[in-house]
Amino acid sequence: MRIAIGNDHTGVELKKRLLTSVLAPHDVTDLGVHATDSVDYPDQAHLVAERIAAGQADRGILICGTGIGMAMAADKHPGIRAARCDEPFSAELSRLHNDANVLCLGARMLGIEMAERIVEVWLATPFSGGRHTRRVEKIG
Ligand code: RB5
Repeated sequence: MRIAIGNDHTGVELKKRLLTSVLAPHDVTDLGVHATDSVDYPDQAHLVAERIAAGQADRGILICGTGIGMAMAADKHPGIRAARCDEPFSAELSRLHNDANVLCLGARMLGIEMAERIVEVWLATPFSGGRHTRRVEKIG
């Protein structure tokens, strides 16, 4: 699975940890940022969303302070279904029911172990299809 990851200044450390743990086995493209100088989170959200929309990545992971701004920005893109998750059950259901293709994490809200578990579950869970296909299509 090809994963594009992006973050603002608040997410640099969490991203580094994820890249060396649960994301290590995956084909990950890191779209930055890499330094903790203050940046604007929509810039990375748009880069990741555009990469998925262009068919160059299968899934995206976005990290900002809360995950909220990243989800708002990514969801502006047609075909992007971004889910902000702060525990594994939401991450699982965002895949099973919503076919979420972008996971948004809040670096200021999550400990590393919780973030790792959320990412593991989200990457491993398939879309369940069936009646959910019609509902996802209605999202537009
Ligand atoms: C940056 O201070 C913060 O606003 C950003 O990381 C994010 O939480 C926005 O949703």
